[in-house]
Amino acid sequence: MSNSALLNICYLIGSLGFIIGLKMLSKPETARKGNWVAAVGMAIAIFGTIFLYEFTNDAGEVSHVSNLMWIFGGMVIGTILGTVSAKKVQMTAMPQMVSIFNGMGGICAGLIGIIEFRHLIHATEISGGSLMTGHAITILLGLIIGSVSFAGSVIAFLKLNGNLGDYSFKGQTYFNLLFLVAVFGVAFFMLNGDLANAHMMMYALFGMACIYGISFVMPIGGADMPVVISLLNSFTGVAAAFGGFLYNNQVMLTGGILVGAAGTLLTVLMCKAMNRSLMNVIIGSFGGGSATAITGEGGGTIKEISVGDAAINMSYSKKVIIVPGYGLAVAQAQHICHELEKQLEEKGVEVKYAIHPVAGRMPGHMNVLLAEADVSYDKLLEMDFANDEFATTDVVLILGANDVVNPAAKTNPASPIYGMPILEVEKAKTVIVNKRSMNKGYAGIDNELFYGNKTRMLFGDAKKILAELVNEVKAN
Ligand code: TAP
Repeated sequence: MSNSALLNICYLIGSLGFIIGLKMLSKPETARKGNWVAAVGMAIAIFGTIFLYEFTNDAGEVSHVSNLMWIFGGMVIGTILGTVSAKKVQMTAMPQMVSIFNGMGGICAGLIGIIEFRHLIHATEISGGSLMTGHAITILLGLIIGSVSFAGSVIAFLKLNGNLGDYSFKGQTYFNLLFLVAVFGVAFFMLNGDLANAHMMMYALFGMACIYGISFVMPIGGADMPVVISLLNSFTGVAAAFGGFLYNNQVMLTGGILVGAAGTLLTVLMCKAMNRSLMNVIIGSFGGGSATAITGEGGGTIKEISVGDAAINMSYSKKVIIVPGYGLAVAQAQHICHELEKQLEEKGVEVKYAIHPVAGRMPGHMNVLLAEADVSYDKLLEMDFANDEFATTDVVLILGANDVVNPAAKTNPASPIYGMPILEVEKAKTVIVNKRSMNKGYAGIDNELFYGNKTRMLFGDAKKILAELVNEVKAN
């Protein structure tokens, strides 16, 4: 079998690995294996390219990839950095890591664009033709989208890491829109313009795409960051797919299309979950981070409950719904939470979990967390189903969740989270909120729920409070 036929088989295995892996990622039980399947497929495609790829060199001879020292040097450094950071990263810092890794993919696509466009300028200078070809358009699209994704991801990383706040100026939406048009305008003039200026314009285009990436992510408020990260992911996928077209490389094309499509679908789903329009995300005009103070109902007074009373309340309920949030992940209280669920069920209480799509700090955060503690998947209610069930629920136990149960999303048009669907916990008979203090959540806004007549605050670290609750429920 020829090397090129073998290489095609490697690419086929790589592509199938991505597709099967992605499918397996959709279920917690198979997700880890799915990751491995996709990674092994990718490794086969990479090593296939390194050892089997053949091309005709300038002397007309069949040649192989030769700069192996650079390739393997880069791979070793990348593998060490990737492994160490993935091992060390806290679950709560995952979104930052996803952002920065995504930015690396973006800059790769951007650099491929720069290198290939330089080759193209050189070839056009020799052949004397025009730059306006499908090949050049593909290169520039990869360059622009990859660079936007790179710069946007770096800003997203810095914001999620707490190194940068939200920044916006009057008319920024229009500025972003015009700037985006200008980026494509420059690309158009470059393809039609003088070859002598093409190099300079290419770097200008790279710079402009980066400025656009910065400008569209800068104003986005905390609560809306997940949508942006998912959109940037899809940008990197699309940029990689352009690379696949460029090199006629099937595995790059399949991988890019899968990432682009999955990222776009996730973005659309999250936009729906947060009642945002996709266009507003793209031009960076949504959810500013300014905090809006809310005066709590009943003059802002809160009512506390003791662990003992909370345990009695739940033990004598028919139905309890637990709402997990970011605080549960921080406290690493998922196992003890599962224990409470079992104790309550032994007392004949029906226990379910209400999962908001953006609870926590990354898509599916709560699902992953609860799956880790062996919570049965059929106990997890998606937001719409949970909202239908709250009216027949005796006690809702909120564990370290805040923004996802904030009624301001429905009642306060000035709030940065206004329009985002929330878990309507206030429909239940009693709402018990566990958090450590009256501190705000991710969006930095006050929460009227905490002052509600049906609400009782149960202050303390989630893990400690849950351990006490388990003991009390056992004793009842
Ligand atoms: P948040 O609104 O961030 O609230 C978490 C609450 O947990 C805080 O108010 C905090 O209050 C409490 N907490 C922290 N540590 C705790 C501990 N050890 N024990 C008990 N409570 C603790 O969380 P949420 O309701 O899950 O909402 C998620 C937010 O993050 C949304 O705004 C969402 O848009 C955003 N976000 C989501 C994602 C994705 S994709 N899920 C990604 C990035 C951002 P105390 O300090 O008083 O304890």
